Amino acid sequence: MGNRNTNNQQTVLFDVNANKNSKKLLDNLSTSQLYEKYKSVINSTTLFKRSNVSFQANKKLPFYRWFSYKEGFSFDMVSKILSSLNIESGYVFDPFAGSGTTLFAARDSGFRSFGIEIMPIGMEIYHARVAIEKIDKNVLRKYIEKLKEINFEKAPIDKNFNFTHLRITRGAFPEDNERCLNAFRTYLNTEIRDPEIKTIFNFIGMCLLEKISYTSKDGQFLRWDKTAGKGRSNYIKSDIFTFDAALNRLLKEIMNDLSGLNMYSQQKKPEAKLQNSNTFETLPKMPNDMFDVIISSPPYCNRYDYTRTYALELAYLGIDEVALKNLRQNMLSSTVESKGRVKELEFMYSKKYGTHELSKIENAFYSNTLLSEILKKLEFYKNNKQLNNPGIYRMVFNYFYEHAFIIYEMQRILKKGGHIYYVNDNVRYAGEEIPVDLILSEFAENLGLKTSDIFVLSEKKGNSSQQMARHGKVDLRKCVYHWVKI
Ligand SMILES: C[S@@+](CC[C@H](N)C(=O)[O-])C[C@H]1O[C@@H](n2cnc3c(N)ncnc32)[C@H](O)[C@@H]1O
Repeated sequence: MGNRNTNNQQTVLFDVNANKNSKKLLDNLSTSQLYEKYKSVINSTTLFKRSNVSFQANKKLPFYRWFSYKEGFSFDMVSKILSSLNIESGYVFDPFAGSGTTLFAARDSGFRSFGIEIMPIGMEIYHARVAIEKIDKNVLRKYIEKLKEINFEKAPIDKNFNFTHLRITRGAFPEDNERCLNAFRTYLNTEIRDPEIKTIFNFIGMCLLEKISYTSKDGQFLRWDKTAGKGRSNYIKSDIFTFDAALNRLLKEIMNDLSGLNMYSQQKKPEAKLQNSNTFETLPKMPNDMFDVIISSPPYCNRYDYTRTYALELAYLGIDEVALKNLRQNMLSSTVESKGRVKELEFMYSKKYGTHELSKIENAFYSNTLLSEILKKLEFYKNNKQLNNPGIYRMVFNYFYEHAFIIYEMQRILKKGGHIYYVNDNVRYAGEEIPVDLILSEFAENLGLKTSDIFVLSEKKGNSSQQMARHGKVDLRKCVYHWVKI
């Protein structure tokens, strides 16, 4: 094991002499050698493009287009991966399932599927999808017609069902819109008895939030229209809908989509299951050799804080301040606020698998020469106040540390010969490019997987304006890694 101080992760050093395996790795691989090692599998591809590796391709699909889960990938991407494998059935898994794209796309390609997602938003989308497929579409149409007739500006409000704000969502809605939203919630909770309609209508309410608010989702945070009077924002949100307009627009879309969904739901399909839990807790409980294919995309190492961008939806679903804080810390470390879980994982894994397995996992992390060089540089920049935020160092450390465990688990639960497709972007801090694709592929190779391909999208990822101004422009790879269990 490399020399490390788990009590204080700020002082990470990689003592390559402390462990025979890591010494061997260092001897073989210098920073540029890692690129050389993977050069032959770094392939450009027509299978993946920005539009299907992002949510973009879902925007035309029935159901998917109702709620824009911007961090999602597309149905099309999952279908293409599965058809490229030339297998007709099997069990597909996604440890970071988000809105459940992998699960439903796999199911529609004839595969059983299972996913884990920590945010209740994913669960809400999942339940709505299941309900909408199951329900008699004519019954739903009647409920929707009735809903259209209600004037929520005048409809009664029971305060028990009011939208309860989080600190960061206060003032997010124009007053009239918040009134209508609360009347809608009252209607939903007092007038609707049918459980499927209730699930679908609750989801409809969630789909409206951003549109009727002063806010827009913007990666790291919520951007506020200047008329909301929050801070010194000069941002102008072009389309703040009235509640009525947003609702009618969505209901029209739903009505148009229903006939397609009707045909769809009549076919008998394999099971698609989503579990609302923390993947770090659930993965170690799963049996070996369970899945044929894993298709997933973790949060990227890019500081994007889902608990801020999705704060309106989380508040809508009843998350309070304490639950929000817990959620933020329980997610894979990818923001400057993430504190990491080194001790927790060490305790859990030594207890569950013994110190030998724990060493194997940690060794994949500590012995990675390229990562060690990057972390040393970031630590130097941090100490010299050259990082935009000092938390970037800790975030990068934890992002990779946690990934060693995730990759170990994905390998363990995958059948021999099984495939993993993992979508991720490279990132850049203080002008230093972090080739996430090479580092994670090297972890994978150390943990029993073979890197078959690193598919690079022809569209590269840009840099933030701050990075460009200070350090010039560097195109960063957007990739889909393809690992195979040997
Ligand atoms: C890039 S998104 C995945 C989107 C998904 N592919 C889709 O199409 O909707 C990453 C997801 O990982 C989830 N996540 C992060 N940390 C997690 C954890 N510890 N356990 C389970 N899910 C987690 C996030 O909530 C987020 O929804």
